Amino acid sequence: MMVLEIDSVSHAYLGRRKPKWVLKKASHTFEAGTFTSILGPSGSGKTTLLSLASGLDTPTEGAIRYRGQDLRDMGLSRYRRRHAATIFQSYNLLTYLTGIQNVRAAMEITGIRGGRTRALEWLERVGIPADEARRNVLQLSGGQQQRVAIARALACDVDILLADEPTGNLDTGTAGQIIEIFRELAHQRGTCVIVVTHSHHLAKQSDQILTLAKGRIA
Ligand SMILES: Nc1ncnc2c1ncn2[C@@H]1O[C@H](COP(=O)(O)OP(=O)(O)OP(=O)(O)O)[C@@H](O)[C@H]1O
Ligand SMILES: [Mg+2]
Repeated sequence: MMVLEIDSVSHAYLGRRKPKWVLKKASHTFEAGTFTSILGPSGSGKTTLLSLASGLDTPTEGAIRYRGQDLRDMGLSRYRRRHAATIFQSYNLLTYLTGIQNVRAAMEITGIRGGRTRALEWLERVGIPADEARRNVLQLSGGQQQRVAIARALACDVDILLADEPTGNLDTGTAGQIIEIFRELAHQRGTCVIVVTHSHHLAKQSDQILTLAKGRIA
């Protein structure tokens, strides 16, 4: 079933003299239960596409639809709260909170029950044991912070999971575990998982590989 539709999306950043077009009539339809990876050289517009699909920005031209409804009509914040979770290239954690508190805050916003126990379970699944989960996130390593960000997105139990280089800071073993969780989410929970990556190894484990080039999705 189609959950997310990128329909002829063009996006420009306003420069001092003329706009810079990063995406040019990019189109793709994403299905439920599918793990998709997006490859492309640095600067090709992967993060731009992901932030549009996350409802953080609206495209200059074209439309993005969730189950047929334009995100602009639904409201971007409602879309982000109810339907899409994002793991950013920089982790965007609440730095004055612990790992558990970060995960619980996201669960509360999405209206997920389960509290502390559920939060700890998700953190443990991504390799953050309870003693680390109780520490302020600034006292964790980069890779551990990234895993807290992943746990936070997973705990939200929404139908679209978007991730920008989620395993970039992780060792091969931990990266493998995270990819396995993404595959499980897609194939068992029916989540639409979309991951931007530079890793061909990760991409090979996804169901579908898209490439961004010259502003288009190939
Ligand atoms: N806020 C912005 N203002 C102006 N230009 C921007 C802005 N954000 C991105 N760009 C430009 O848009 C292009 C695409 O950037 P984007 O971050 O989407 O690339 P990317 O494919 O994610 O690259 P990377 O693999 O290095 O993360 C780049 O040329 C970048 O300089
Ligand atoms: Mg990027």
